[in-house]
Amino acid sequence: MQLNPFSGVYLTDPASAWRRILDDPDRVPYAEDLGLWLISRHVDVRHALADTATFGNALTLAPIYEVCPEAMSVIVQIDAPPTTAAADPPTHPRTRRALRATFANTADRAEAEYGAIVRRRVDELVSRLVDRAGRRADLVGEFTTELPLLVILDILGVPDADVDQIRRWADGQVALIWGQPDPDEQVRLARGLLEFWRYCQDLVRRRLDSGRDGVDFISRALTYRDDDDTVLTVTEVASLAFNLLVAGHETTAGLLAHALDEALSRPQRWRALVADPRSVPDFVTETLRFAPAIDGWLRVTRRDVTVGGATIPAGARCLLMIGAANRDPAVFAHPDRFDPRRPDAADHLSFGHGPHFCIGAALARLEAGVALTRLAEAIPGLRLAPEHSRSFKPNVSFRAHHTLVATIDIHAPADGPTAAPAAATEARAA
Ligand code: HEM
Repeated sequence: MQLNPFSGVYLTDPASAWRRILDDPDRVPYAEDLGLWLISRHVDVRHALADTATFGNALTLAPIYEVCPEAMSVIVQIDAPPTTAAADPPTHPRTRRALRATFANTADRAEAEYGAIVRRRVDELVSRLVDRAGRRADLVGEFTTELPLLVILDILGVPDADVDQIRRWADGQVALIWGQPDPDEQVRLARGLLEFWRYCQDLVRRRLDSGRDGVDFISRALTYRDDDDTVLTVTEVASLAFNLLVAGHETTAGLLAHALDEALSRPQRWRALVADPRSVPDFVTETLRFAPAIDGWLRVTRRDVTVGGATIPAGARCLLMIGAANRDPAVFAHPDRFDPRRPDAADHLSFGHGPHFCIGAALARLEAGVALTRLAEAIPGLRLAPEHSRSFKPNVSFRAHHTLVATIDIHAPADGPTAAPAAATEARAA
């Protein structure tokens, strides 16, 4: 089986590749060029995500290709201990407990602890767009990537002045691990990642020196450890910050861009959101299913395992194809239809499943809900520019738009039905 996530149709219409893999008679094919087993069916992906005894996380954050020696000599200096997506038992249950205690991971906690931050940041960004009424804006550069980054920096207590640097480092990490950089680029990105890790260590050190009585995540994690390394080490606090700064922004940026793309590429859908903001949460859930921000996630087998008739040997890397699983006709009727009213949209696997289930799912939903509601209120005439064309950055895991060029029109659209049930269920590839 061939799968090239870095060029061709996968960058404009990934759903056609997901369909091909779901229909493959081998059921779990091996992609020789990537060196990855492709697990695509909902039942298999869900099982693999939760079965940590068979599917380990040790290589989840390791580059998917053979890194050149010069870049590798830099990468080995990044001695961040595994705490989240790369951690296995017995470490993971302990670090996960720490994360649950210090990071708001339910809808109520996220609203109580982060609601004010999210609303303030959304309002800032929306008013900047409103100031440009009548003109074009790239919603990716000016909204969808900005909001989650600013929010996660606020939560961690990181100064705004560091925004640009962190954005570059985090984008670099996504390209270094799941992209296809050439050797020179690998070295540059690896150096950036090492600087980023040192920055996180320094952030924690400074917080220790200044007293840890703040309400930010780092202060809370330091208070939680209470000087007890068996609970959490200081280096593990830095590693949590290192992970959250990337996980908290690259993912939600994708969700926001996909939601706006789905809404604006069918103007009836946008009008429906403008007319009835109560429909926003269902719209967000269906976006998560239909166009997941992470559409493939890595695991490594810890022992031989048979999945869908294929025997995968121990030590093999597997790509859990969340995007394909979310389109599995065995679970979702008419899976290629975007339908915010489908009753089972929440059965998507876009936040994972089991012990590693995304800790930021509630925050991501909060951000997307507030963002869409405020944008619909303030810019009801928002629409994609005619010259806009959809394309995604080449990556095995993160599905990110290059741009989303739109016209900022603060007037309500003059005509067209406000709610369009037929259009809301039109089929379209992601
Ligand atoms: C739409 C937005 C997001 C998506 C699609 C997403 C997706 C995912 C996925 C697929 C996983 C792996 C789950 C598994 O292995 O079972 C994950 C884990 C994780 N996510 Fe998210 N995420 C999002 C937002 C966030 C946010 C906002 C944060 C934090 C601020 C965050 C932090 C994490 C962390 C720390 C983990 C690792 C958890 C663990 O290993 O215990 N994510 N996420």
